[in-house]
Amino acid sequence: MYESEFPLHESIIYLNHAAVSPWPVRTANAVKQFADENVSFGSRNYPAWVATEKRLKQQLQQLINAASSDEIALLKNTSEALSVVAYGVPWESGDNVVISSQEFPSNRVVWESLRKYGVTTRVADINGSDSPETVILDSLDGRTRLLSVSSVQYGTGLQLDLSVLGAACRERGILFCVDAIQSLGALRYDVQACQADFVMADAHKWMLGPEGIALFYCRQAVMEHLDLKQYGWHMLEDLGNYDRKDWKIAGSARRFECGSPNMTGIQALHASMTLILETGIHRIEEQVLDNTRFMIDFFLQRADRYQLITPTAAHRQAGIVSFRPLHETTESLFEQLGMQNVICALRGGGIRFSPHFYTPRKRLFTALEMLDG
Ligand SMILES: Cc1ncc(COP(=O)(O)O)c(C=O)c1O
Repeated sequence: MYESEFPLHESIIYLNHAAVSPWPVRTANAVKQFADENVSFGSRNYPAWVATEKRLKQQLQQLINAASSDEIALLKNTSEALSVVAYGVPWESGDNVVISSQEFPSNRVVWESLRKYGVTTRVADINGSDSPETVILDSLDGRTRLLSVSSVQYGTGLQLDLSVLGAACRERGILFCVDAIQSLGALRYDVQACQADFVMADAHKWMLGPEGIALFYCRQAVMEHLDLKQYGWHMLEDLGNYDRKDWKIAGSARRFECGSPNMTGIQALHASMTLILETGIHRIEEQVLDNTRFMIDFFLQRADRYQLITPTAAHRQAGIVSFRPLHETTESLFEQLGMQNVICALRGGGIRFSPHFYTPRKRLFTALEMLDG
């Protein structure tokens, strides 16, 4: 059904959307057209490019249900957005940040780097059998300034209940930061319902865009309280008035975009977002979760051969299923899958499968059949 948008080579079984996704055809076409336009006309149509940039912010606003597209900036990547937050909060020595024990390095290192300001990073160990939200909330104390978690953990695929965490943070005056790169484009996401102050996600995973263009959401009420560490023409309120000597920082999240935007990335992500919004995030989520259930059932039926790393409770699942073989090394099985063109990843001590909504069931089944061999 989606084959015209994803004509992946027939030899490939692509189960690696949690790493870097293939582009839809329309995204490749948008980039080709943009290249041709640049070759023939240079930037003659710059106003049209700016209009696409504006539309992209509106698409992203819709995707996360932000109150306004003025709360959305386009940055380079998730790590940059996390850094904007980490180096924007006016810390006091003795403050702490809470993260979970399963975070991707970008959502750990940046907080640990604040040690020089007397800020400590507390790691809530969510690897045990207790509810991860309880463990995380138990790690907050009177000096916790910020909680930063991934909506879905990159290794285990564990989905957190963000609304529980967000409500607790808001009640206690703690900033809530969500690295949503492993869920945006795959699962429904409502920034207002989960009461996040900051959300970030690069385009190249579930949003089916290119690397190097990322959503950064900053709640309007906290925007003014973040110090800015980068300055330039593009972040000024009176954008484009180059002769003016006095200046004011933009009241919108454009304040985080100091210079020229990544227009190629914008064209590409805009095209990918039309596909996601046309398909509908509800429908995408249904199919993503259906794939996950299919894989989980497969591994549960073969518990004598494979150990599931991904939680089995339905409300904890997302688009990632990770497992390890019991009778051979994970590395050797990973290598065999690679030789058979099953594109997947080694993460968190296991093999990570991450099909997307369009992945044909037949191909997914073929990959699983290889594990039976
Ligand atoms: C949860 C999570 N956060 C952040 C990143 C890195 O994102 P970026 O390259 O956009 O900084 C990844 C990449 O795998 C990830 O899985």
